[in-house]
Amino acid sequence: MSLLETIEEQRALMLARIEAARSNSDVERVRIELLGKKGSLTTLLHGMGQISADMRATVGKAVNQLRDEVEAALTERRNVLAAKELEARISAEVIDITLPGRSRPIGTQHLISRLTAEISEIFRGIGYQVVEGREVETAYYNFTALNAPPDHPSRSMQDTFYIVDRSGDIEAISGETDVLLRPQTSPVQIRTMEVKRPPLYILAPGRVYRRDTADPTHLPQFTQIEGLVVDEGITFGDLKGTLEYFCRQVFGSDRRTRFRPHFFPFTEPSAEVDVSCGICGGVGCRSCGGTGWLEILGCGMVDPNVYGFVDIDPEVYSGFAFGMGVERIACLKYNIPDLRMLLEGDMRFLRQF
Ligand code: DAH
Repeated sequence: MSLLETIEEQRALMLARIEAARSNSDVERVRIELLGKKGSLTTLLHGMGQISADMRATVGKAVNQLRDEVEAALTERRNVLAAKELEARISAEVIDITLPGRSRPIGTQHLISRLTAEISEIFRGIGYQVVEGREVETAYYNFTALNAPPDHPSRSMQDTFYIVDRSGDIEAISGETDVLLRPQTSPVQIRTMEVKRPPLYILAPGRVYRRDTADPTHLPQFTQIEGLVVDEGITFGDLKGTLEYFCRQVFGSDRRTRFRPHFFPFTEPSAEVDVSCGICGGVGCRSCGGTGWLEILGCGMVDPNVYGFVDIDPEVYSGFAFGMGVERIACLKYNIPDLRMLLEGDMRFLRQF
């Protein structure tokens, strides 16, 4: 084999080794093996001494060319590896800007709080003052002074949460001092009339409690709004006009109202108020049980017996009272099928309001 052929063969081997380098340190190792003091190319160059003079120029030129080529190949390999490394790092450190961020949603006022405030605002607009009562009451304010007879069923432990343990002795629960969670906001009437003299135009929103198991139409805790008016010359006409105005404000002017005779211990006469069904427009559907009407509140003229407990003269003053459940009104206004949805805290539901 001629020397030139050997060089050509070496050239192919050297370039193949460079091409095989997988990292910078591989490249460096190959560089030393080829161009180092004891490297293959150096050895080739050292062999030049033995070459005949006429061949020396040709071979020398070939070896130099090979060294240039090897150096260029090493540089090229380093560049390729550096580019590959950069590419790998970019794809490893990639930030996916299409991923949704972590949002911190801001809460909203609960539908019941909002509706309570809206209803309060309607009555404030016609001169009512908003007052607060107590959630923990006594039997005197919740029953006795509201003219409920001692054997009234709502006094029983089945209906009302008592705080004092009477060992289930229902007979014993007739004491005026029995402590309970109020099942209605009506005791605010007594508390107000005890400390304020007529004219009274008050509205009392607040929580009430009943021994009911939660189902689509019952909750053991809910919100009521009590109204009370006591003034000279107040008639049932004032009561009707006030509540009709209120219903139009809350439900819209296309809804009609009707008053049905009813009984409450603390009003006489008493009535329940229905509003025409918003779903069928009053012709009757499943939502309104086919009647076209939905019951929304209780009301009546304050019973003269009640004035006796708070020392107001029924010969001088007359008045009316009403009480409504806010959760129920929310359901009727927004067609909510199940009261429990109002307590579940599901933002998908609550955000609609
Ligand atoms: N307190 C009654 C209830 O919870 C509602 C009610 C009816 C309140 C008539 C009133 C009223 O003030 O006059 O069922």
